[in-house]
Amino acid sequence: MRLIIATRNKGKLREIKHILGGLNLSIISLNQLKKPIRIKEDGHTFLENALKKALPVSRMYPLDLTVGEDSGLEVECLNGAPGILSKRYCGRGATDLKNNSKLLKKLGGLKGKERKACFRCVLSLVKAGKLLKAFEGRLKGVISKEMKGKGGFGYDPVFYLPSYKKTVAQLSLSQKNKISHRARAFKKLHNYLAKLV
Ligand code: IMP
Repeated sequence: MRLIIATRNKGKLREIKHILGGLNLSIISLNQLKKPIRIKEDGHTFLENALKKALPVSRMYPLDLTVGEDSGLEVECLNGAPGILSKRYCGRGATDLKNNSKLLKKLGGLKGKERKACFRCVLSLVKAGKLLKAFEGRLKGVISKEMKGKGGFGYDPVFYLPSYKKTVAQLSLSQKNKISHRARAFKKLHNYLAKLV
C-alpha cells in the first residue's frame, strides 16, 4: 500500500521517511503524483489545516493512505499566537528573521515563565476522503531573549529548552529529530500504522 504525504517539502519527506521506515508501505509525496492538486490552507486550527492538505489528495487517490501535516508555535502570554499564522506572522514577505524579531519585541520585558511556549504538530491520516485518525506532538520550552544557533528553521533560534540549556537551533539535527513536535507526532502515527498494515 502507498502512503502519500501531502507535502512538496523534500526535507520534511526525508525526515518523515526516516521515522516511518520499516513499515510495509511505499512513502511518497505530492511531487511523485501525476494529477495536479490544489491545496488551500485557510483553516482555523492545526487539525483543520492538516485535513485541508490531506482530503483533496485522498479524494483523487482513494485507494492510498494520505497524511496531512500542520505545525506552528504557540506562545502562552500571546494567547496562542502566532499559532496557525506562524509562517506569516509578519504578513506578506515574512521571513524567519522578521518573524523572530517581531516575537522578541512582543515579549520585551517579560521574564522566565512568562515566556512559555509550545511547538505543536498535528497530523491527519485519511483514506478515501475520510479521517481515520489524528495525531499530535508537542515540544514545550520558553522564548529566549535573543536569537541563538544556526541549525533548524523558523522559530528554532528563539525556542529555548531549559533541560538542554540550548535553543533548538543549537541542537544537532539528529537531536532535534528525536524530541521535536513533528517527530513525536509521526512516532504516534508509526505505532498506529504498524498495527494497521
Ligand atoms: P508548516 O507546518 O510547514 O506550514 O510550518 C508552519 C510554520 O511554523 C513554519 O514556517 C515555522 O515558522 C513554524 N514551525 C513549524 N515547525 C517548526 C520547527 O520545527 N521549528 C521552528 N519553527 C517551526
